[in-house]
Amino acid sequence: MTISRREYNRRRKDLMATMGPNSIAVVPAAQQLVRNRDVEYPFRQDSDFHYLSGFDEPDAVLVLLPGRRQGQYVMFCQERDPARELWNGHRSGPEGVCADFGADDAFPISDIDDILPGLMEGRERIYYAMGRTPDFDRRIMDWLNTIRGKVRSGAHPPGEFVDLDHLLHEMRLLKSPAELKVMRRAAAISAAAHVRAMQACRSGLNEYHLEAELQHEFMTNGCRNWAYPPIVGSGDNGCILHYTDNNRSLKDGDLVLIDAGCELEGYASDITRTFPVSGIFNAAQAQLYQLCLDAQLAAIDSIKPGVTWNVPHEVAVRVLTDGLRKLGLLKGPLQRLIDKQAYQAFYMHRTGHWLGMDVHDVGDYKIGDQWRELEPGMVLTVEPGLYIAPGNTKVAKKWRGTGIRIEDDVVVTRTGCEILSYGVPKQLEEIEALMAAGRQA
Ligand code: GLY
Ligand code: MN
Ligand code: MN
Repeated sequence: MTISRREYNRRRKDLMATMGPNSIAVVPAAQQLVRNRDVEYPFRQDSDFHYLSGFDEPDAVLVLLPGRRQGQYVMFCQERDPARELWNGHRSGPEGVCADFGADDAFPISDIDDILPGLMEGRERIYYAMGRTPDFDRRIMDWLNTIRGKVRSGAHPPGEFVDLDHLLHEMRLLKSPAELKVMRRAAAISAAAHVRAMQACRSGLNEYHLEAELQHEFMTNGCRNWAYPPIVGSGDNGCILHYTDNNRSLKDGDLVLIDAGCELEGYASDITRTFPVSGIFNAAQAQLYQLCLDAQLAAIDSIKPGVTWNVPHEVAVRVLTDGLRKLGLLKGPLQRLIDKQAYQAFYMHRTGHWLGMDVHDVGDYKIGDQWRELEPGMVLTVEPGLYIAPGNTKVAKKWRGTGIRIEDDVVVTRTGCEILSYGVPKQLEEIEALMAAGRQA
């Protein structure tokens, strides 16, 4: 475990300090979902639950009770069961959760209906992410009603629900040194996977062959999960933003857009590179690629503490719009094109998002109605793109069916930013050299 027990403990303490006394937080684990008949989807713990516990079993509920003398951190979890463990693997059980995950007290999940109302009773506020899991919302209300049913015997039901997301997600937004260490490693593995796919690329192979190269690098580095399904889009498919069919054959003359990142110890990486199947960009591809790269470099250059969230996007939009004018894809004065968002015909998404345990990570982008300022420890992606639809008859033929995106992961530092995903090249000549080396090998 790279995140230490002490760090999990600190997270719970910090959260409880902001919750204040007379409150309770209830965080359910993710559910094990069925894929088909006796086959289940691979289990992925809920990010909030993992952030506070490091405990990766389903059928569990984490409870925090600031100031409770008999123990502030309570867990409900599956009991040990030798017969079930023989089939499905080890369970920690309540004793293991106390011994190995720092819980003060732990109970079988089957006892939650009897015990949790008693823990809620007398607390004023329930911190809970209402609306995310309808089944669990109902159970929360049932427990509350159990206490309400006892008011005539002197019970004090909590009177207030507070959204847990806000407090917890502000904490998750600022990454600790240990979290950054994991994210650096995740980005390095993903960068190596992109290099591997570029070097393996040949016309006649299929998009899924490149996906296999990515998976090989992820898995042989201990990442059995990706952070999101890999996108391997060649030719026209590069213009489909969330393309995941990955089943078309690769043709010389086409570009391939790969957007893929592994998940390591619960942390995501998110990298996109675009390169020519043949190993050499043609003139039109090179012009659009260079424009996208210029926008990305300028956006990264703008990142430092105190700059507001939207600045890298505005910088990228300005560079792209100006370049599209120079290439004849947009016509008119620069500022007017920006103001009327003319670039959206070719660039329809934003330049980035927070990155962390979730690929589109938690954390507010605005404080009130103002874009928030960047602070050291925030991790974001920078991912401008250009997508010239295959059917866009308003532009010259040479541009059509070209999809380009260049995406890196960066952490805001005290003086600027650090690029976590630097391990995969993005300059035109570097990509061509890397691919040529792959063909010689
Ligand atoms: N891979 C999803 C994204 O880039 O946002
Ligand atoms: Mn992204
Ligand atoms: Mn991406």
